[in-house]
Amino acid sequence: MTERIAVYPGSFDPVTFGHVDILHRATLIFDQVVVAVLDNPLKHPMFTAAERIALMREALDGDRRVVYDTFDGLTVDCARRAGAAAIVRGLRAVSDFENEFQMALMNRRLAPEIHTVFLMTSFSNVYISSSLIKEVCRLGGPIDDFVPEASARALRRRLTPTTTEAAP
Ligand code: PNS
Repeated sequence: MTERIAVYPGSFDPVTFGHVDILHRATLIFDQVVVAVLDNPLKHPMFTAAERIALMREALDGDRRVVYDTFDGLTVDCARRAGAAAIVRGLRAVSDFENEFQMALMNRRLAPEIHTVFLMTSFSNVYISSSLIKEVCRLGGPIDDFVPEASARALRRRLTPTTTEAAP
């Protein structure tokens, strides 16, 4: 039987419990899920693609159905390279929908054989986004309920000034 492969593309800067939730749901449907980390310096990510993958690996604790790739071109090209039949995207709120719908239709136009599958995150994750968590961390708020331990550690190292750094 042929393996059902899906690509889960994103910035993952860094991985949140929302991403982990979607990834877990995707592994219940597909035999293999390729996490495709966007490696585009023009987007000014906080973490390099290698760092983002390392944080995801730690969060996923070696799930063998999950593999990792980076890409800097079209998502559909990445999906084709991986032999994927589907692109997985997470939906949180209605506000996500318009942009996601536009991307899904463009991707279908570019690669009609690849289907976008939207998965809903659990209710407790609907307001979590990497950018919001970065802001909370930067302003000294607690982030442990929103991101895996490795992400929280990495964010605090990057964003919370140490006593020495804060000294004039
Ligand atoms: O985690 P994000 O930032 O919401 O992920 C967005 C991503 C990487 C999925 C999106 O920017 C993307 O697909 N980029 C690749 C460029 C592309 O394929 N564009 C044309 C289709 S819309």
